[in-house]
Amino acid sequence: MLINNWYVAATAAELQADRPLGVRMLGMDFVLFRSGDGITCLPDVCCHRGGALSDGRLAAGCLACPYHGWQFDANGQCVLIPALGAEVKPPRRARLDAYPTAEKYGWIWVFLGDLPPAERAPIPDLFPEYDDAAHWRLVPYRFEAAANWVRMEENSLDTIHTSFVHRRFGGRVDPKSAAADIELLPHGARVRREKHAPDASAKSGDLAKLLPANRTRTRVSLEFSIVGICHRIQPTFSEGMSQINFTARTPIDEFHTRAFGWQARNYLLGEEHDAERIQGLEEAIAEDLRIVEKVRPRLTPPALPEEFLTKADSMEVAFRRLVRQWAGRGWEIDSERYAVESLRHVLVIPSPLRRADPTNWVHRTVPLRAGS
Ligand code: FES
Ligand SMILES: [Fe+2]
Repeated sequence: MLINNWYVAATAAELQADRPLGVRMLGMDFVLFRSGDGITCLPDVCCHRGGALSDGRLAAGCLACPYHGWQFDANGQCVLIPALGAEVKPPRRARLDAYPTAEKYGWIWVFLGDLPPAERAPIPDLFPEYDDAAHWRLVPYRFEAAANWVRMEENSLDTIHTSFVHRRFGGRVDPKSAAADIELLPHGARVRREKHAPDASAKSGDLAKLLPANRTRTRVSLEFSIVGICHRIQPTFSEGMSQINFTARTPIDEFHTRAFGWQARNYLLGEEHDAERIQGLEEAIAEDLRIVEKVRPRLTPPALPEEFLTKADSMEVAFRRLVRQWAGRGWEIDSERYAVESLRHVLVIPSPLRRADPTNWVHRTVPLRAGS
């Protein structure tokens, strides 16, 4: 799992104004809360004696620990230690790492790392349709899987599996894609493919009624970004009729992944057509999980030759190469060491403030694998 990346922590709707929200990411617990216009994300461990801050309460823009009432402000600094009295200013060391946050696409994103703003890759602009309600109808989805985040993302970038895994939009029709070369981008890759449309019988419901009976090709464009571990898949069924799945994945830990998604469509815009779309999505997600949760090894092998990859796996390989590249910068959590050391120590992801001011912290930082 990688630090120095943006991750979707929650939907904006689920973070209420009057209470904190605990979220598990990268094998660690975090707490989110709103203060004023801003959103704060801290480790969910108090630096006094380890209370879980997500069980605390909000008071005047601060988060109060449920154990002894220490109050932390939006920057993670403790501003009140009730047992010492309001006249005592808490020392600087009574503080927690605070992570940069942003709201985009109706989600709360957190930058889990210590890079200064100029060095952070921005959250990708992969889903401009989010703001175009006049032409696109959006349906949200979310799911969790008992599978590693790389395995999950590879499944989404894999255009061949659809012919075998997905009943509705696959069908066992010619899995050979007219593959255009993939276009490598600084933080991702993009590909456009044309495929045989599934057998007319594979589509059902309202969408099937709209599609021309003689349709033979479906165009699919696919783009991913390692920033935010997100991707956009857009099939165009016929001229002007298109659908977008935009999904971001957050590792809960090495073996569990949470996905946040939007499905957008530019046809059948009425709300009454949502149920059928959602049903189709749920079916497709279940079909994927039946496969991906059983892929072995559970973590992607460290070297490409440990699997027999072909040119049809080029998007998956592009993703893996970027993951290796980021790990090579020294941004990969050493999960084996973390599992042992976190039994006795609080280990947190370093924040930008810690980088700027490295001494005087209670919590240690998470072990990272050496870069290359
Ligand atoms: S553990 Fe948080 S105030 Fe004591
Ligand atoms: Fe799939």
